[in-house]
Amino acid sequence: MLGNISLSDLKSISQEDIEQLLRITDQIQDFQELMMKYECAMYEIKTKLDVLNKELSLRNNRNPFESIKTRIKAPISLFEKMQRKGLPFTVDNIKDNISDVAGIRVICSFIDDIYMLADCLKEQDDVRLVEIKDYIENPKPSGYRSLHLILEIPIFLTHDKEYMTVEVQFRTIAMDFWASLEHKMKYKKDIQDAEMITEDLCFSADMINQIDRRMQQIRERIDAGRIQEDA
Ligand code: GTP
Ligand code: MG
Repeated sequence: MLGNISLSDLKSISQEDIEQLLRITDQIQDFQELMMKYECAMYEIKTKLDVLNKELSLRNNRNPFESIKTRIKAPISLFEKMQRKGLPFTVDNIKDNISDVAGIRVICSFIDDIYMLADCLKEQDDVRLVEIKDYIENPKPSGYRSLHLILEIPIFLTHDKEYMTVEVQFRTIAMDFWASLEHKMKYKKDIQDAEMITEDLCFSADMINQIDRRMQQIRERIDAGRIQEDA
């Protein structure tokens, strides 16, 4: 016996089967390599954000972001997304059609920190900006607010340099609070008054936005007071 394969099983494996097995093994290896590249790109961007956080918090005495999370899309989610797009699950199709294989979520205290960090990041000379989706200026019909940047960053391997895509989502703590709860409740919308619940969620998002803006104004007043004191 070889694991679960017996000698008689092996004898019945045709040349065609072996070739297919080798093809699948190659595909698995290519897939793992692709995921490794996304992971490296994700950490390149995360390091850039950590550097900005350190520099700015030393200079301004407060952190421009509260927390940062990274994730690589799970193979099953990738597979489902490719199916939704009606595309065969191949390494080339993933690279050409999915922009959020590598994802970073940055949670800021204030709305202006989001734009300041996003500007600093997209202006770095090894970062290419592919797309900006400003769901703060233009919230989704659900009420969802965040700033999404699709970026490309080079990773340097033993023999070559390759640009990889990373999606960065910037949100305030308040926006994240809403998005997390809304995401949890999304799956429970197949109930009677789903339309009213959707409306209520959107209304809640607007209230949260007002509070976000109010908190920023308070901080600006405090900052202005500090500047006068220092003068
Ligand atoms: P996806 O196929 O979901 O990636 O959509 P897309 O390519 O059009 O990207 P989009 O910029 O709309 O952002 C998708 C991501 O933003 C999701 O994976 C969520 O993390 C987040 N998102 C977008 N809309 C909502 C929403 O209504 N509620 C919540 N909770 N999150 C959302
Ligand atoms: Mg997405």
